[in-house]
Amino acid sequence: MNLHDALQEKITGAVTEYTGGLGIPDFSVEVPENTEHGDYAANAALMLSKLLGRPPMEIANDLAQKLADERWEVSAAPPGFLNFIFTDKMLVSALEEILTAGEAWGASNVGAGKSVIVEYFQLNIAKRPHIGHLRSAVIGDALKRIFQSQGYTAISDTHVGDWGTQFGILLWAFKTLVKEEDRHIYEEYPFENLEKLYEIANLRILQTPELREYGKEEFAKLERGDRENRKIWEWMVDVSMKKLKESAERLGLLPFDEHKGESSYEKDMSLIVEDALKKDAATRKEDGAVVVDLTKEKLDEAVLIKSDGASTYVLRDLATIQYRKKEWKFWKNIYVVDVRQSHHFKQLFRVAELLGYEGVGDSEHVEFGFMSLPSGAMSTRKGTVIALDALLDEAERRAYDVIREKNPELKDAADVAKQVGLGAIKYFDLSRNRKSDVIFEWEKALSFEGNTGPYLQYTYARLKSILRKAGNVFFQPIASVQLSSIEHKLISLVLRYPTTIENALLDRSPHILAAYLYELASVVNEFYHARPVLQEKNEQMRALRIILVTVTANTLRNGLDLLGIATPEEM
Ligand code: ARG
Repeated sequence: MNLHDALQEKITGAVTEYTGGLGIPDFSVEVPENTEHGDYAANAALMLSKLLGRPPMEIANDLAQKLADERWEVSAAPPGFLNFIFTDKMLVSALEEILTAGEAWGASNVGAGKSVIVEYFQLNIAKRPHIGHLRSAVIGDALKRIFQSQGYTAISDTHVGDWGTQFGILLWAFKTLVKEEDRHIYEEYPFENLEKLYEIANLRILQTPELREYGKEEFAKLERGDRENRKIWEWMVDVSMKKLKESAERLGLLPFDEHKGESSYEKDMSLIVEDALKKDAATRKEDGAVVVDLTKEKLDEAVLIKSDGASTYVLRDLATIQYRKKEWKFWKNIYVVDVRQSHHFKQLFRVAELLGYEGVGDSEHVEFGFMSLPSGAMSTRKGTVIALDALLDEAERRAYDVIREKNPELKDAADVAKQVGLGAIKYFDLSRNRKSDVIFEWEKALSFEGNTGPYLQYTYARLKSILRKAGNVFFQPIASVQLSSIEHKLISLVLRYPTTIENALLDRSPHILAAYLYELASVVNEFYHARPVLQEKNEQMRALRIILVTVTANTLRNGLDLLGIATPEEM
């Protein structure tokens, strides 16, 4: 049930008939700002007026006649809009369909047979995930869920950062600065110590730049398969992967299909370089570096091999595209990575194009802005990144306090606090346009009012509480009800859910769905304050309202689920 598409189709048919094959101008079917103009408005007559050289109102009137349908009332409005108001009969019968769909409401199969790679939550080994990894995780996970709901095969990969000179530096520091008898401390607290060690190593290099050569040398040894380096590196990978999986679980992310580290592409690299040289796309410079010159396109030089012979980030990404095309035959290959890497992805896609890689045209950098905390928001030393665990701990603690205060009797308060705290953080992120920077603020995120996760969760819980009191209600065809304007508005809004998912998917923008859910929550709140549900005397009307509450609750739950946000039944 996608009324937007139904209208689009019907209007296209009418226009084709009307112009007698003169062609169909681009026109839009949109929800008007002012709901008094109807559930949808189309500008087809305005567009046709240019084509036919006739007054738009005249065309709108003609088209209105052709567009008559039992599902809506259509009228022409100056300067030439077509306004559609859904009939009560259609709205009420739509409720039945939504009710029956249940958890499948909003799902479709349009993506059947197509696979999409979604790459997100790309952690680097030897470091803990921090607040900077949150957006990628949350946006990527929501996209995976949205794609899946539309029948696509969505494959997620973390593309673990486990290769590169920085690990040579870490190896050098570990081998020279950590005494044998102190290594057990690293086993016990790997991240605290490795992070500090890396910081120290970089400070030393800052003072004595030549030291960097040792790091390069250690990485080169690792690339050549040196036993000792390999062993230390494998230990770092092991502890890091454990941490990654633990964090992904704590964030409630869908299981990943792949955790393919950058190192796993090592074996393909020499072939890629050879191929690039053979195709004359790349050149070997005097110092031994292999580069693709993109300076004419203002994309600088893409380095494939550094002068010291080490492989590069771009090279590993080239191998990744090839692997993914071969392994998954992707329809789209999506990288959810922050905006700082847009230059990298432009280079990458351009080089892949020059090399004639299959699938590069379907690769996309889905970029996002930064999330930061206002300074002093957490008791962490200034300049230190905030660990994801610390952020989540604090979210739970704060959510627990809020819930305790609002509802002291609530059972399972600790579990609910986890869901609300996490939901608040995720929603704060997902409700913002992914391209903008966001400053995370606890009070705003955890508020039970306004465009927040807790507000949506709370609205859902209230609807569920009404339904628990109402008991079982069965759908009965309601012959002739007169819907009030708020009921009309609410059903019409619920019906926009499938189109909303479609738009969020097309734009790779979960915030489109979030904005919709917020509107839905606001309208349903308005509805049950204005219209009694349980106290309604008229049996039919009461049943109808209960069903309306049910389908709205379902829509909220399904939508929040696509955002990866839990919906507690009580809070
Ligand atoms: N690990 C990388 C970093 O920390 C991000 C990986 C992005 N994905 C990619 N395919 N390049 O910057």
